[in-house]
Amino acid sequence: NEIRVFSPATVANVNCGFDVLGFALDGLGDEMVLRKVPEKGIKITKITGADLPFEPKENVVGVAGLAMLNSLDLDFGFEVEIHKKIRLGSGVGSSAASAAGIVYGINQFLERPISNLELTAFGMKGEAIASGNEHADNVAPCVYGGFTLITGYSPLSIVSLPVPDDLYVTIIHPQITIKTKEARAILPKQVSLQNAIKQSGNLAGLIAGLYTEDYELIASSTQDVLVEPYRKNLIPNFDFYKQTALENGGISFGISGSGPSMFTLCKGVKDAGNVEVALTNALKLKNMQGDSYISPV
Ligand code: HSE
Repeated sequence: NEIRVFSPATVANVNCGFDVLGFALDGLGDEMVLRKVPEKGIKITKITGADLPFEPKENVVGVAGLAMLNSLDLDFGFEVEIHKKIRLGSGVGSSAASAAGIVYGINQFLERPISNLELTAFGMKGEAIASGNEHADNVAPCVYGGFTLITGYSPLSIVSLPVPDDLYVTIIHPQITIKTKEARAILPKQVSLQNAIKQSGNLAGLIAGLYTEDYELIASSTQDVLVEPYRKNLIPNFDFYKQTALENGGISFGISGSGPSMFTLCKGVKDAGNVEVALTNALKLKNMQGDSYISPV
């Protein structure tokens, strides 16, 4: 009656899909241990890797887990250990990994497991206390794996997208922290029709590119005219990193979720490695501490 759950880091938005697109990373993620106990509710017994509240109602894991336990009216509960490997506020879905991990874990103990769509809905309750808003673009790829598109929030509707075999991502994470709540607060509430048209063309282009394995279409479509112009100001030297990535083999570059991590899409692992070297040097040149990660998309 004990399981260990791996919950991957994720890249949300992917430039043209603010709040609706995201993909999971391979190998980078949190771990959680769940023990089924007769007492109802969630008891967080251990947290490593981050300074987070043990009180379930104040912890993403507790909130998402309790939402699921209460809704399903289960007559048992869980003791949970949380081992954070994804840094908080790094932009690769740390809170979503906690939220998705607990609901996915609980599901393994159910006689009649619920669907990924329902798990995502419960996970969003946890994500909301961390970011101030119920969005699923990190939780969904974390639960489903791969690349996901949220086609609607009310009702919640999610589609898994295909990914070309050679599509890789290089993540760089400058050691600054950005709170999603704050990165959302700086965004304008209205956008121009002209920009809405551009962004819908980009989103459609990226999805068509994924289905047809058209790397040029993926490259030209993975652009963000709505959010990046505002959020890039939170990341010192963003334009310099973008230029470096695109000059060294990257096909597109952007802010991962609400940042400060940045992602570069690449065709092939070799280009992803070249981009990683170039961006690591670029960080050094700007006297910025940081780390990096390469994964298939
Ligand atoms: N779509 C979200 C945002 C992802 O950009 O605010 C970060 O959690």
